[in-house]
Amino acid sequence: MWVEASAPSNIALIKYMGKTDANANRPTNSSLSYSLDRLRSFVRINKNRNLATDQWSALKRADLRAIELSEKGKEKFLKHFVLLKKEFKITDHFEIESANNFPSDCGLASSASSFAALTLAAHNWMIESAEGMPVPYRPKELAKLSQKGSGSSCRSFFTPWALWHSTGAESISFPYENLKHQVILCDENIKLVSSSEAHTRVLTSDLFKGRPARAEERLQNLIQSLRKEDWKKSFEIVWNEFWDMHTLFHTSVPAFMYMNEMTVKALRDLHQMWQENDDGPLITMDAGSNIHLLYRPDQKASYFEVISHFRPLANLWTDEGYLAKK
Ligand code: DP6
Repeated sequence: MWVEASAPSNIALIKYMGKTDANANRPTNSSLSYSLDRLRSFVRINKNRNLATDQWSALKRADLRAIELSEKGKEKFLKHFVLLKKEFKITDHFEIESANNFPSDCGLASSASSFAALTLAAHNWMIESAEGMPVPYRPKELAKLSQKGSGSSCRSFFTPWALWHSTGAESISFPYENLKHQVILCDENIKLVSSSEAHTRVLTSDLFKGRPARAEERLQNLIQSLRKEDWKKSFEIVWNEFWDMHTLFHTSVPAFMYMNEMTVKALRDLHQMWQENDDGPLITMDAGSNIHLLYRPDQKASYFEVISHFRPLANLWTDEGYLAKK
């Protein structure tokens, strides 16, 4: 019996960067994210008593893009599955297959959606294979479990907005429920420093002192500005937040950088567009070179202006799919 689940990716506007407990993925500060419903991971699992250990392979399906996991990536994924089996009292070994509905070789891949989907698949197995009436876990409980596998995955259980704070992740609502999403793909290669490594390195930056307090204050200000529908203020807070995180990268020991020439040019151009129009998308970056943009539904003109400006310079990911540079 194959059991399947899927989960969306999410983009943080206030970042999870730095852990107080690396084993439990306990963050140094709260974070806030928007779920990217169109960027999804799919996981299916099947019990196989002939296996000596759990096994991962790429899920091959016409509508999905098969992924390749590194040895380290596979190990982290399978370790989380062992934890899930223990929690849900599942015995024996499983075949586990996963894939994304977006290309994973262009720097969009995120562990959030795949760990959330794995947690949901194991939970679905527990429900479907139980005799009698099993009590399903609530999303908050599933998020707590998923956090143990990969921190940011706990936010993928809530759509469209998720707040992850000291008591766990939960849903939070704002007047903006249907944002459009674009990514300027400034580098599509595998990153040299993983985000897990980044979490450790930022603690060595002189600027990390004060970071948790800065992030918490920014979070409160962003919640206020989103509630008041003050888009410009929200843009300014989100802009400062990703620069704060990247400055930590640039000042870690040893220092590292994800931004490249294309990233800096794109950020300059986007900033100028904002100045000219006194409006524009929310701009943010993850631990990588790519730039994520979020638009209100009434900002179609700006959305298409960005496509025509950047298409000659870089590949783009949009809500309509992948747009190759031309
Ligand atoms: C930069 O959740 O990938 O995307 O808990 O070690 O798996 P682990 O880290 P991960 O970190 C994501 C960091 C980030 C910011 C964010 O999503 O908040």
